[in-house]
Parts: sequence; C-alpha cells; structure tokens
Amino acid sequence: MNLLIQPIQPSFAARVSGVDLRTPISTAVAAEIESGMDRYGVLVFPDQQIDDDQQLSFTKNFGEIEHAQGGNITKDSEHRLKHGMIDVSNLDQKGEPLDRNDRRRMFNLGNRLWHSDSSYRAVPAKFSLLSARTVAARGGNTEFADMRAAYDTLDDDMKTLVEDLVCEHSLLYSRGSMGFTELSEAERAMFKPVRQRLVRTHPATGRKSLFLASHIGTILGWPVPEGRDLIRDLIEHATQREFVYAHTWKQYDLVMWDNRQTMHRVRRFEESQPRDMRRTTVAGTMMTAEQAS
Ligand SMILES: [Fe+2]
Repeated sequence: MNLLIQPIQPSFAARVSGVDLRTPISTAVAAEIESGMDRYGVLVFPDQQIDDDQQLSFTKNFGEIEHAQGGNITKDSEHRLKHGMIDVSNLDQKGEPLDRNDRRRMFNLGNRLWHSDSSYRAVPAKFSLLSARTVAARGGNTEFADMRAAYDTLDDDMKTLVEDLVCEHSLLYSRGSMGFTELSEAERAMFKPVRQRLVRTHPATGRKSLFLASHIGTILGWPVPEGRDLIRDLIEHATQREFVYAHTWKQYDLVMWDNRQTMHRVRRFEESQPRDMRRTTVAGTMMTAEQAS
C-alpha cells in the first residue's frame, strides 16, 4: 500500500488512503502524515474500523496523549471510555442518549460553537483525532475553518493591531455565552482563564494563523466589550464559507486536525439516536504566550 494524500480543497483539508490504522505504521509513514497535517490542517482517513487501543497507538505517533482533566464537568465515575479517550458522543454509561436536561449534554452543546480544542489549557492541544463509531442519522457535520487563510486575508492595519494581542480563554466564557452558568465552585476554579496569543506561528511551516475560539472572554488590557467585539468580528471573518471545509461523517471515518491552525464546530444532529464519536488528543508542547510571533 502506498500512502496517498489528496487535497479536498486546494490548500485546506485532504483525504488519506493507502494506510491501515489497525496496525502500527512506520516512522516514515508517520512523518508523511505529519507533513500532510502541516500542509492541509485537516486529514480525513475513510474506512478505518479501529478500536480504542488502535486509536491511542496511532495518536502516539504524533506526541504525548493530552490529559483530559479539567476539560469537562463529567465526573470520573461517569466516564464511558477508558483513560486517554475523550467521549464526544451523546451517550451515558449505559450507551443511551443523554436526557435533554442532563447537564453533561448542556455543557457539550458548547462544541457547537467555533473553537480550537483545549485553547483553555495553559498548553493548548496540538492535534485532535476523531473516530466515528456510530454516526448521527441526520446532521452532525463537523466544520473546520482555516485560520492561516483567515490571518493572510486580514488587511495590514488589522494585522498590526492583532500582532501582539493576548486573550484570556476559559470554558466559563464559551459556556456562559450559551447561558450555561450553573457551575460549582470547584468547576469554576477548574476553568480558570488562561492566556494565549491571538496570532500564532506554526512551528513547522512558519505560517501565521489567528488563534481564535469561543472560549475567549477578554483581550488583555482592553475593555471587555471592546475585546469581545473584535473577537466576534474576527471569528465572523475567519469562518466565511471560502475558508471552511464541512465534513459529512460516514461510519469509521477518522478525521485528524491541527488545533494550532484551525477552528472547528459540530452542527445540530438527531439526538434521539446514539452518535458515538471518540476523540484522542495530542498534547501541545509550549505555551503560546512564550512564543514570539
Ligand atoms: Fe472540539
């Protein structure tokens, strides 16, 4: 089998064939996939009927597995999946769709807002890998926005304005913007805001991108409403149709994206039936505030 990476859109998102993710891959193949990620930001691997261990093994080719702690309100005793797997299904531990008013469901509705995974962590995530075990009967597309294109198409004045800005990100802000504010003191402490640069430089390609997410609540040194107004404007700019790839899921698709140069969101779906989507996350290696833009 020869690895083949074919672009879906000219410079954003590509489809990968000629690799079987059920078995270990060579260092050379891992390097080809990583350079495909650097170039396209999103890679789609169709027909990969993998289990959790195979997904974890494949993920480890690209770095350490990110620790999931502090990213959700689901209690340890409520986890459906093993350590290292992030459950982005609509299911409880018995495999039944969550009730409409279940606070885990309400919290997870925040995934419908544009975001970059773990931008609310001091060291934000590198890659996310999402495996579709059971797809929604209707809806549930995941949309990806190319944040390099978003940066490149800002005018010069805007590039100068955003160059050195630092934002505070927190799950409190994204969930708060949906009206989900019923959090315990312990949850509030867990979701303490972190600082991220608004402009990032990709470590492999040197390309700049906007580091945006609905987790942003403030721009440091700016009045809060003024900061939020700019962030809304930038998110609107970054998610124009021409910068977006919408993925329609088929069972056993695995989609991998680079959180350092993309944003994503899931769309509404039929929630009465199981939608079993399992994520693994490659941890980032540095704080963005430490990086010179
Ligand atoms: Fe996400």
